[in-house]
Amino acid sequence: MFSHFSVALALLSPLVMGTPLRRAMQVHEALQSTPSGYTLTGAASPDTVLSLRVALVQNNIDGLIEALYDVSTPSSSNYGKWLSKSDVEAYTAPESETVDAVNSWLSENGLNATVLTPAGDWLGIDVPVSKANEILATDFSVFTSSVTGATTIRTLSYSLPSNLIGHVALVHPTITFPNPSGIKPPIAREVSTPAASASDLSDPCAIVKLNGTAMTPACLQELYGIPATPATVASNGLAVAEYEYEYAEESDLHTFLQTYRPDVNPNTNFTVLSIDNGTNPQSPDDAGLEASLDLQYTVGIATNVNTTFITVGYNGDFLTNLLDTANTLIALDSPPQVVSTSYGEDEQYVSASFATTLCNAYAQLGARGVSLIFSSGDGGVSGNHFEECTTFNPTFPSVCPHITTVGATTLIPEVAVDFSGGGFSNIFPRPSYQDAAVSAYLTLLGSNDTGLYNASGRGYPDVSAQGVDFEVVNAGEVLQVSGTSCSAPTFASVVALLNDRLLASGKPTLGFLNPFLYSTGASAFNDITSGNNTACGTNGTLGFFTAPGWDPVSGLGTPDFAKLLTAVGL
Ligand SMILES: *[C@@H]1O[C@H](CO)[C@@H](O)[C@H](O)[C@H]1NC(C)=O
Ligand SMILES: *[C@@H]1O[C@H](CO)[C@@H](O)[C@H](O)[C@H]1NC(C)=O
Ligand SMILES: *[C@@H]1O[C@H](CO)[C@@H](O)[C@H](O)[C@H]1NC(C)=O
Ligand SMILES: *[C@@H]1O[C@H](CO)[C@@H](O)[C@H](O)[C@H]1NC(C)=O
Ligand SMILES: *[C@@H]1O[C@H](CO)[C@@H](O)[C@H](O)[C@H]1NC(C)=O
Ligand SMILES: *[C@@H]1O[C@H](CO)[C@@H](O)[C@H](O)[C@H]1NC(C)=O
Ligand SMILES: *[C@@H]1O[C@H](CO)[C@@H](O)[C@H](O)[C@H]1NC(C)=O
Ligand SMILES: *[C@@H]1O[C@H](CO)[C@@H](O)[C@H](O)[C@H]1NC(C)=O
Ligand SMILES: *[C@@H]1O[C@H](CO)[C@@H](O)[C@H](O)[C@H]1NC(C)=O
Repeated sequence: MFSHFSVALALLSPLVMGTPLRRAMQVHEALQSTPSGYTLTGAASPDTVLSLRVALVQNNIDGLIEALYDVSTPSSSNYGKWLSKSDVEAYTAPESETVDAVNSWLSENGLNATVLTPAGDWLGIDVPVSKANEILATDFSVFTSSVTGATTIRTLSYSLPSNLIGHVALVHPTITFPNPSGIKPPIAREVSTPAASASDLSDPCAIVKLNGTAMTPACLQELYGIPATPATVASNGLAVAEYEYEYAEESDLHTFLQTYRPDVNPNTNFTVLSIDNGTNPQSPDDAGLEASLDLQYTVGIATNVNTTFITVGYNGDFLTNLLDTANTLIALDSPPQVVSTSYGEDEQYVSASFATTLCNAYAQLGARGVSLIFSSGDGGVSGNHFEECTTFNPTFPSVCPHITTVGATTLIPEVAVDFSGGGFSNIFPRPSYQDAAVSAYLTLLGSNDTGLYNASGRGYPDVSAQGVDFEVVNAGEVLQVSGTSCSAPTFASVVALLNDRLLASGKPTLGFLNPFLYSTGASAFNDITSGNNTACGTNGTLGFFTAPGWDPVSGLGTPDFAKLLTAVGL
């Protein structure tokens, strides 16, 4: 049976196990206790194979982050001078002593690692539980979710040979447990009876103005001034990333374009990029609402931009899938310049070390000139979904300072929606680019919500866009769906169209957006000053209110394409 670890036990266990070289072991990461929502239900079978990801310490990640802000800050003389793939690898490659130390450790234990990144900063090892227990002086166990009954193999503590401290950043999955509530659909709300299509009316926003339903590409074009004219630069790309068995049907896209974009070729194609053996099966039974939404509101708004559908095979751990996605994009010579992701996890379920390491992978993409756009979550201040809470639950990756997070609005004139995820990180401190905007908000907030949020944390979302009752074709049927899942691809499409104009004028793409958004870009957004995201508390009574300027409900506001063109210098 399992026994709780003490440091002494961890130090002794290699001797007990009899590893080839009896190195002193040192606890590397540990939890105080089993995470709430889980109970320990037994030892893991020694033969079960674990697929572990090992992060090696990079030689100069601080230098990479400094370079990221140098090239993404409009006032910098290096603004827009995105780093090359090899420039980034020069920062992220581990030192040779690190590589040697880790390789010796693996070979002493008869293990072969797969090098997962061009820089060599991530390794993959497939090992049976018995071997993992031996090399990490740990005791992988079965934990059962008290919410769903699902089991997961994790540990409360693991050790490394002391000569590897400073060389290995972390091993995953170990102490980061999945959300005990399991996989939840990313869409906030779904209405199965659509209103009459707004595309039939002379004002494409007529129904939205009436009662906030029936959002379409034509209304978004009218509302934000998004051009319908086709993009012209072939090298300009936009991608949507899909997880957890979400597939998009070509036939649904075809129907969607015929209905909502009669001015474009209904056979417009998309490229499929598979990660972790992801697929995109094409029978109507396979259609997924999130995938249909994301594909239709990128191809359908970013007219003629080369769109890639990234399908990530579910391997039991969403965070590993996110990591593999980042590392796959990092390995591409020409990654798509904009990537929209409408998935996330409550920050409380992600260890600070894993969150930081993955956020730093996003920094590498930002430095290459990739705009990473994430939805802010659909539970207001209560996390990814509406949940009871006593303090606010931020979401990840929304809280990563090196990506752009999008909240949701509704109606015209626009107001913030109650489900719009927003708040402040408990892991990442406030980045300097949002210092002035967030400080101004906190001054307005005064003593409201004291003790419920972390005033020193990175505030999110950064911006927002409409997110209610988007008309989507799914398995041949028109549905209306709501969530920040609608807002992220809409904003990503705006960025992709701005990139097309920039490239056509011989200028660099926008890349990592936030230093621009909070400075020269801020005035190109429609400030949202009505609405709140109260969701926490026994009856969902606690939360934030919109305010003039940035707020943790609607961010800086919604995009105005014409003003953005001016702000980017066109
Ligand atoms: C590691 O790779 C070598 C060379 O491919 C092979 O001979 C050896 O059996 C592998 N060891 C393990 C433990 O898989
Ligand atoms: C919104 O208005 C449209 C058009 O009149 C109508 O068909 C639809 O049922 C209304 N929806 C709601 C939720 O009121
Ligand atoms: C579109 O993007 C994909 C993936 O990046 C790429 O393979 C393809 O060549 C691109 N198509 C064009 C026309 O540039
Ligand atoms: C998209 O792909 C289909 C099937 O491969 C093909 O018939 C169609 O011509 C393509 N459309 C365009 C616009 O290239
Ligand atoms: C993908 O499939 C191959 C062949 O079935 C398998 O060897 C590999 O482990 C799979 N990769 C992942 C990440 O599931
Ligand atoms: C928050 O907004 C909702 C509408 O989204 C509104 O019904 C509610 O009254 C607002 N809460 C407060 C405290 O103003
Ligand atoms: C608040 O956020 C900071 C990072 O800005 C973090 O170091 C600190 O631990 C957080 N406090 C709590 C109570 O989570
Ligand atoms: C502070 O809370 C009050 C009452 O809950 C609310 O009316 C007010 O708008 C809040 N102020 C800010 C800046 O959120
Ligand atoms: C929550 O709502 C229930 C039912 O409306 C009510 O009985 C209860 O007092 C409320 N609790 C709080 C803390 O407001």
